[in-house]
Formats: sequence, structure tokens, C-alpha cells
Amino acid sequence: MKKILITGGAGFIGSHVVRLFVEKYPGYQIYNLDKLTYAGNLANLKDIENKPNYHFIKADIVDGDAIMKLFETHRFDSVVHLAAESHVDRSISNPMEFILTNIVGTVNLLNAARHYWCENLEEKRFYHISTDEVYGSLGETGFFVETTKYDPHSPYSASKASSDHLVRAYHDTYKLPVVISNCSNNYGPNQFPEKLIPLIINNIRHNKSLPVYGKGENVRDWLYVVDHARAIDLIFHIGIDGETYNIGGHNEWRNIDIIRLICKLMDEKLNREAGSSEKLITFVKDRAGHDLRYAIDSSKLQHELGWVPSLQFEEGIRKTIDWYLENQPWLDEVTSGNYLKYYEQQYDLKR
Ligand code: NAD
Ligand code: DAU
Repeated sequence: MKKILITGGAGFIGSHVVRLFVEKYPGYQIYNLDKLTYAGNLANLKDIENKPNYHFIKADIVDGDAIMKLFETHRFDSVVHLAAESHVDRSISNPMEFILTNIVGTVNLLNAARHYWCENLEEKRFYHISTDEVYGSLGETGFFVETTKYDPHSPYSASKASSDHLVRAYHDTYKLPVVISNCSNNYGPNQFPEKLIPLIINNIRHNKSLPVYGKGENVRDWLYVVDHARAIDLIFHIGIDGETYNIGGHNEWRNIDIIRLICKLMDEKLNREAGSSEKLITFVKDRAGHDLRYAIDSSKLQHELGWVPSLQFEEGIRKTIDWYLENQPWLDEVTSGNYLKYYEQQYDLKR
């Protein structure tokens, strides 16, 4: 029986990964370790919280002693590491949180795994979840492949790049059995509404302005979160030790185009006059160090492990909008309190 530690399982992607593993593998014991920062929300896992193979641990990965003790108590044999500070804008205003959680926190987990697995590395796996942002920015053509040189530009992506290097260093130096994946932008249910797609949906709902950074010409490659979770399942089980896999949707959109599409779909859903949401679009000051374009070549994952995304974007974005409209109490809950202060600070600066 596997004992799997999933970190950051109360967050956006983590909650989809925890649900998939708990439901698909009743024989595994799944331990969801999360600090429950503003981005962590146990309501994301209400439907599975009473399953006998699910356990929640509230802990901070920056606390190395606590992490060691948890390994001592539970003797995890695998780690799927998603816990991170994940929002680029927050990393620009407060980089230190990103250095602590994303770098120091990752090293604490690596140290605990190394310490407790050193005598028997058989059947062990340390799976580090990373991002395409470590590769930097593309021009108008080309794709990120697994061998693209790292060139991060924000404190967030630099902290993730640093953690990727450390994971590889523990593989090369201590033979820790690791695997890494770098994924493009995710969208779907349960994403914290500081990120572009849920922010736009929520602002349209409240008739608030839709802040577009710069000219809205930056391009992102969007993948439905459940397809990322399916890729993680596959890589966890059959990915090759020491390898890296890129994950992406082959689904590039300019920000302004995706915002216009959401406006059109929201007008239909809310029975508003066609074109009324688009009037809320407001161009604001650009993000500092804003990467122009991300696009992933996921052919290694497709050819070697047989992964293909299951959902077309047109269907995924409709499902996503429906989820936020059907889960307004969830949105209202996470956008109250501290989020309002963050929102004012972040967007006042951009006016
Ligand atoms: P998220 O911000 O929604 O969730 C992060 C989770 O980590 C939260 O539950 C939070 O409480 C927890 N956490 C934060 N600091 C912690 C700490 N010190 N100790 C323990 N738990 C802590 O993030 P997400 O969007 O779900 O991203 C998850 C992972 O996937 C991250 O590593 C991110 O870099 C990576 N990633 C995200 C995307 C994306 O589009 N969102 C794409 C590629 C990779
Ligand atoms: O590429 C993977 C990354 O995708 C992940 O590693 C990050 O954790 C995740 O947050 C995401 O980063 P981005 O910076 O691409 O996502 P975000 O939703 O913040 O922004 C998407 C694009 O939209 C980006 O070009 C900035 C722009 N934007 C964003 C916000 C919040 C706006 O124009 N207006 C906004 O208000």
C-alpha cells in the first residue's frame, strides 16, 4: 500500500490531484499537507474529505523540523509536491514569501525524503510540479521543449527555477528518485480569482472593470486543470526516474482575445445585452517584466507516456464559467476579507 504525501492539496491544482488519487486509488493512503494560506481552501475537497484513504495535515513546508517529524510518523513512500506561492503579481510585491516556500520549503521536503529513504530507494518517488515560466519568454514563434535553457524573469519563476535545479541536484548527488513536470497555464474550477480567468468572470458578475495589462497582447497556452491532474497521475506512475516532462494544451490565446471570449459567453449566460461586458475592459499599467508568450511542446509526454488532453478549450471554458456561476458562495467567500485589500493595492497601482 502506497503512502503518498501530496503538498498544496487544498489549492487549485492540488485539490484536483488529491481528488483524482483518492477516488482512483482506494488502496493508496493520501496525505494532503497544506498550510492553508489565502490560496488554500478545504472547501475544495468537501466531496472526498470523509473517504477512508484521505488524510489532511495542516503544516508549513518552511518548517523543516515539522516536515522531518511528519516523515518519521507517517513514513511516506512518495511525494507529489505542489505547495507553492503561485501568483506572479504577488511575487513582484513580496518576493520573500516565494523564496521561503518555493525554495526553502522544497529543500526541506527533499532533505526529509533523503533522510528517510536513504537505506532503500526502491519504490520511492519525489515528484516536483513546476511551471513553463522557468523557460522565460518566447517570441512570436517556437515552443518550450524539455531542454530549453532556463531564463526566468519574475521572482515567482526564478524561485520555481531554483527549486527545479535543487530537485535535479538531489537526484544527481544523492540518487534521490525524482521526476519533474513543467506545465502551462491551467484554468478550471476552484482557481483563486486573483488569476486572469476567474478574475474576469468574477468582475463581469459584479460589473467591475476588467483590467488588461499593457495592450493585452501577451500569449498564454491554456490547459484544463483536470487534464493537468491526469498528466500528473501518468507521470507519477510511469514517468522515468530523473526525467522532465512538459505539459501543455497546444492552446494559445492572446489575453485580450480570451477576455473578449469570456465577455461574450458571460453576456449569453447572464442574459445581458450582447457587447455589454466588453464595455468593462480597461487597459492598465503593464506587469513589470511581463513575459510575452508561453507555448509548450508536450510531444515527449504524448509519445512516451501516451497522454492527450481530453477537453477542447471551447468546452472547457464553458464548463469553467458554469462552475463559477453555480458556485457563487465559494467565490464570495474567497474574495471577502484580505482579498479585497490585496485587490485595491494591486489595481490602484495600475491605474
Ligand atoms: P495555488 O496557489 O492555488 O495553491 C497553492 C497551495 O499551496 C495552497 O493550498 C497553499 O495553501 C499551499 N501552500 C502555500 N505555501 C505553503 C507552505 N509554506 N506550506 C504548505 N502549503 C503551502 O497554486 P496552484 O495554481 O494550484 O499551483 C500548484 C503548483 O503548480 C505550484 O507549484 C505552481 O507553481 C504549479 N503550477 C501552476 C500552474 C497554474 O497555472 N496555476 C501552472 C503550472 C505549474
Ligand atoms: O504558465 C504557468 C503559470 O501560469 C503558473 O506557473 C502560475 O502559477 C500561474 O499563476 C500562471 O501565471 P500567469 O502570470 O501567466 O497567470 P495570470 O493569471 O496571473 O495572468 C495571465 C495573463 O493575464 C498574464 O499575461 C497577465 C495577464 N493579466 C493577469 C491579471 C491577473 C491581466 O492582463 N490582467 C490581470 O488582472
